[in-house]
Amino acid sequence: MVEWTDFERATIQDIFSKIDYESVGHQALSRCLVVYPWTQRYFGNFGNLYNAAAILGNPNVAAHGLTVMRGLEKAVKNMDNIKSTYAELTVKNMDNIKSTYAELSVLHSEKLRVDPDNFRLLADCITVVIASTLGASFTAEVQAALQKFLAVVVSALGKQYQ
Ligand code: HEM
Repeated sequence: MVEWTDFERATIQDIFSKIDYESVGHQALSRCLVVYPWTQRYFGNFGNLYNAAAILGNPNVAAHGLTVMRGLEKAVKNMDNIKSTYAELTVKNMDNIKSTYAELSVLHSEKLRVDPDNFRLLADCITVVIASTLGASFTAEVQAALQKFLAVVVSALGKQYQ
């Protein structure tokens, strides 16, 4: 079980209160599709993903990047059960996020058949984009907190595959 320190909680809340979801989501998903081109196969209905410029200019990519960030926001809100809208959850640990993601995990595994390795790749792109957005304030400790948070999300998304 993963416990969150006060610093980790505060850092995650702070990052997600500062960033522009639309911009970060768009940039992160675009990067994922460019850097790891095999991820494009899941987005066959998105239209032109022919090259980096086409990917960046594709409105479906922008819209879906925002959807992913809204999905992450759900996990941010459920880090702390006291503030949680998920009243049935009673523990302040990663199980909280796992419950939040149960439905999404089923969708990605059973319906979309997304290889779970790809979750980490997108999480890494999100880290890169947040790092470049925050600049000098993205210290090693902040990076550690963000990566721990994203690792918990990735694990929750992959739960249906285990
Ligand atoms: C759909 C979140 C990673 C492929 C979605 C939705 C959310 C979401 C919230 C919308 C669900 C709905 O409409 O009910 C996330 C999060 C991820 C992640 C938080 C990791 C941080 C990935 C990865 C891929 C992927 C790595 C593929 C490489 C898809 C596809 C859809 C989808 C194909 C359906 C898109 C559509 O046709 O509208 N995801 N996702 N996801 N996701 Fe993910």
